[in-house]
This record gives sequence, structure tokens and C-alpha cells, in this order.
Amino acid sequence: MCGIVGYCGNRKAAPVLIAGLKKLEYRGYDSAGIATLYKGGYRLVKKKGRVEGLGDGKDVKGNVGIGHTRWATHGAPSTRNAHPHVFGQVAIVHNGIIENAAELKKECLARGEKFASETDSEVIAHLINRFYRGDLAAALRACTQRLTGSYAIAVLAAGSPDTIACARQKSPLVVAKNRAGELLLASDIPAVAEEGLQVCTLQDGEIALLQNGEITVFDSTMRRINRDFFVCDAQISAPAKNGYEHFMYKEITEIPFAMRNSMPDFTQNQDFSVFYKVLCQAKYIEIVACGTAYHSGLCAAYAFEKICRIPCRVSLASEYRYRDPIVPEGALVLAISQSGETADTLAAAQLAKERGACLAALTNVGHSSITTLADFVILTGAGQEVAVAATKSFNAQLATLYAMVQALAAHQGTKVECRDLPALAALSLKASERVRSWTPYFTGAKSVFFLGRGADCFVASEGSLKLKEISYIPSEGYAAGELKHGTLALVDKETAVVAVITQQSVAQKTMNAVHEAYARGAKVFLVTAFPEYGKREEIVDHVVIPTCEEAFSPALSVIPLQVLAYSVCLACGYDPDKPRNLAKSVTVE
Ligand code: F6R
Repeated sequence: MCGIVGYCGNRKAAPVLIAGLKKLEYRGYDSAGIATLYKGGYRLVKKKGRVEGLGDGKDVKGNVGIGHTRWATHGAPSTRNAHPHVFGQVAIVHNGIIENAAELKKECLARGEKFASETDSEVIAHLINRFYRGDLAAALRACTQRLTGSYAIAVLAAGSPDTIACARQKSPLVVAKNRAGELLLASDIPAVAEEGLQVCTLQDGEIALLQNGEITVFDSTMRRINRDFFVCDAQISAPAKNGYEHFMYKEITEIPFAMRNSMPDFTQNQDFSVFYKVLCQAKYIEIVACGTAYHSGLCAAYAFEKICRIPCRVSLASEYRYRDPIVPEGALVLAISQSGETADTLAAAQLAKERGACLAALTNVGHSSITTLADFVILTGAGQEVAVAATKSFNAQLATLYAMVQALAAHQGTKVECRDLPALAALSLKASERVRSWTPYFTGAKSVFFLGRGADCFVASEGSLKLKEISYIPSEGYAAGELKHGTLALVDKETAVVAVITQQSVAQKTMNAVHEAYARGAKVFLVTAFPEYGKREEIVDHVVIPTCEEAFSPALSVIPLQVLAYSVCLACGYDPDKPRNLAKSVTVE
């Protein structure tokens, strides 16, 4: 999704802004731009396409500036729709969606103002310019009072040298000061991270002013407030491929480590003692999440119900918030989000909390927005995930959730074991190399079905999502028993099928669906913990993954599907790290 950077110091701003935007490239975008202030005017460089198109910035004068990578929501990807937007005295960059932009634009047009783009964001520049009388923070505040929707905004004004003002509402924004006394801002810490950087995560409604080496934060009534700064971890500043061709595959290889790093002992670890008590007393668990995190929620719910016999429902966060949900007494809500910034998940979590739930956030990013909302924060230890397609974060989420299941089971007097999963994941990873030889069947397929039952069904959905998002091949993850109720009509000899079979009690039932697909000419591949099924005539080839506690098998069976998606993507000639139309963190509704 869109990214923002800002710089206010003694160096040339443009190279710093461009370097920051490059660090945000992995998040997905379609155009980029920067604006610097110089002698009461602007230096503006913006282009459709990659950040490289902006050059290195060395010839762009000015020590204060803002930059942006845009992921189009309103208005097609184009140079004129790229940010910054300049109007009158003012230049702005904006992440989010202004829901009342049409109405505000009408008002500006009636005042005789002209618009240069089709974006919702441009009205922000018009409004700030209207309210600006030399006090940039006050003008920004006057503007935000008129906006509905979500925003992170950074603004420059020609009449306010050496100053950037910024504001946040439901879209992440941090302000920071480095050891050299330079001031920075960004939508994501990695854009500006460096050793010793002091960072403050702005909260909704807050405005910050970066000026003369100082950061001043105001609340929504423009009262100065003291905010805590934390020192950022320099490691997040420079994600490296370490010899791998792509981040996605590097991150798949990191799965065993990511899992090992994400399995606290909830029964013993003092940091989680209060949470563990709440977990043991919970009468009901509700999980809210999106995309891959939603799939990890489905897998966890299956294990919670099967092993701990506690009712557990999983909701797509984007649906939950509009369902007028019932939050029963004693409900524990788990919000799962790799980034901690997904707008739908944040809104669902907020709603659950307002309705009385105890809220625990499971996220991979410390200091992300969800951490400020939750009663309990549980960090997964996957390390920074750069590739847009989530892989190791999924396994890390499962590792944490299964550790929770194990702890709750222990409280109930039942023994289950998940601590062997990281080592078994390493074996699964090794076995997964075999799926690369399946690739030609998938690049040539008209459509692909992933089938499974029980926990395997959720892995099928995740395998399908991975394939779709990076190889663009139409695909569905399907409950194997449901195929015959309609979807079988789509299966023919141009269909490829991957069946996942790790649950003994339904193994033969999934094989029935495999046979139905095979009988219609589909090429069927198998990921299984039971080698005997691989030898059946219906199966073109199979991968055997290690056996483990059955309810925990998704953490192992998903790995061949991640490798398959990666391999098919490469064979199709696409970049797995930057799939079209997608962004790493989805900060708009
Ligand atoms: C798929 C993918 C997305 C995310 C979803 C939620 O590979 O990455 O489906 O899982 O956008 O993101 P987080 O977990 O950051 O809330």
C-alpha cells in the first residue's frame, strides 16, 4: 500500500527521501514522487512506475522534503495522480482514503479552484492551503476536521521553511529523530530505520510538527503532549536477500527458525501469566483476521476446538465489523495480523473491544497500531517479512497459536506436543523441493483446485491464495467433500488438483474427491503424511511430509504449497516479491 517518508535536516532531502522510498518498495506501489522546499518554492519530481524513475535526487535542492509511493485507489496509476500534490503554497502526501473527497472537491471547485489529478488526496492540499496563515500545524488541524476516512498526511508549506507537519487517523505514521539530530517521518519504520533512531508512533487524531531539530506532538485539540519515544532496532532497516534470488524463497527457508522463535511457553513465561489466566478462563474464542492471517486463524480454531473443546469462531475482519457482532460474556478475541496495520483487522478488533471482549493481538511487528489497541500483545518472532506473499509469518502465527492450544490443553490436563514442529518443518521444507518438478502441470493448467478436509481444508485455501497472488492462475481452495455439490462441473483435463491429506479420519474421504477429479481428466498431486495414498493410480506425484499431532499438521503441509506457488510464479516469468495489484500492508478499507 502507499508509503510516506519525510526529512527535515541539514543534508539534501531528496537522496534521503528516495533511499527511504526504496526501502518501502516491497510493499507494492504503482508510482512515486518527492517534493522538497527550496527558496520559498518546490522542487517536485514524480513519475508513474518504479522509484528508480525519480533518479538519485542529488540534483534536487532543498533540505526539507516529503516523498510517497502510491498504490492507486482513486484515479488510475499515472504521473499526474502520483503524490506529492501541490496547490498554492502547499505540498502534501497522503496514505488512506478520504471518503468525503467528492463533496469537498465540489466545494473547492465552487471557489474557482482547479484540480490537477483524479485523486481523493488532492482536496487535502486545497483545504490546507485555504486554512494556512503561517501556522502549518493549525492549518493541517483545520483541514483534518473536515475529513472523513483514513489518513496519514505529511505537508510542506512554501511560507514555512524547515518545517513538516503531519497527521494520522487510521493509517500508520511515525516521527523520529536520529543521532545526528535530523528529523524524519514515515508510514513504516523500515523506511527510516537506523542505529539509535528515536521513534514515536503517532496515535489517531494526533498532529506532529517537525521543525528546527525538534518534534512537537499535539493532541486533537492542539494541546502539546509528551509522547514516549523508543529506540528502533537497526536490523529492520536493511532487509537483505543473503544470496537468495528472492525474498519469498529466503523467507520460506526461514520457517523453522521463525516457528522456533514464536513458541513461548504460556504456562511458565511470566510475561504471559495474566494472558494465560484469561485464556484458561475464556468461555469462547473469536478470531478476526484477513487473508493469510485468516487462514492461520481457521487452523488454530480447528485445533482449539478439537483438542481443548472450547468454542472458537473465525471471522474475516472485513465482514465482522459490519455484522453487528455479538460478543458473548467471557469472550477472548484474538486479532491476528502480521503487519499489525491492516485497517479491517484494526477496526474489527476495536469493535470487539468496545463490545466488552478481552482483546489479544498476535502480530509480527512491535509498536504497530494493533499493539496500542490490545489488552495483550503477543509478538511472533518471524523476523521482518519483505515478500508481499506471506509465508514464514503464517507458520510463525501457527506456532504461537499451537503453543497456546498446548498450554490450554495442559491446564485441562491433556497432553499434546507442538514443540517438535520447527524441526519437523525443516524436514517438510527438504521434502518440498520435489514439488518444483510439478511446475509444468500448473503453468499449463486452466484452473487449479486445492482440496482437503478438516485442518487440510484451510491449508488448501492458503495454498490456493499463494498460487493466485503470485502466479495469477485462477485457483480455489475447496473442502474436498463439497466438490461434488457444484464445483466439479469446472473440472476437466486442463485442471490441476493438489490434495492435502494429513488427517487419518478423513483421508479416505478426501481420496473420494480425488477420484472424482481424476475420473474427469484432472491431473492430481498429493501432499500427505500417509505415503500409501501417493501410490494410488489417481496420483501423478506426491510429497510426504512428517507426521505430527494431527491438528497441528497445517504448519508442515503448507510448506510444499508455498514452494509450489513460488516455483510456478518463476516459471511464469513473474517477480514473486512484487505481485501486481497487491501491497504488503493493507491500510485502507
Ligand atoms: C497473502 C497476504 C495477505 C495478508 C493480509 C493480512 O499472502 O499476505 O492476504 O495476509 O493482507 O495482512 P496482515 O497479516 O498484515 O494483517
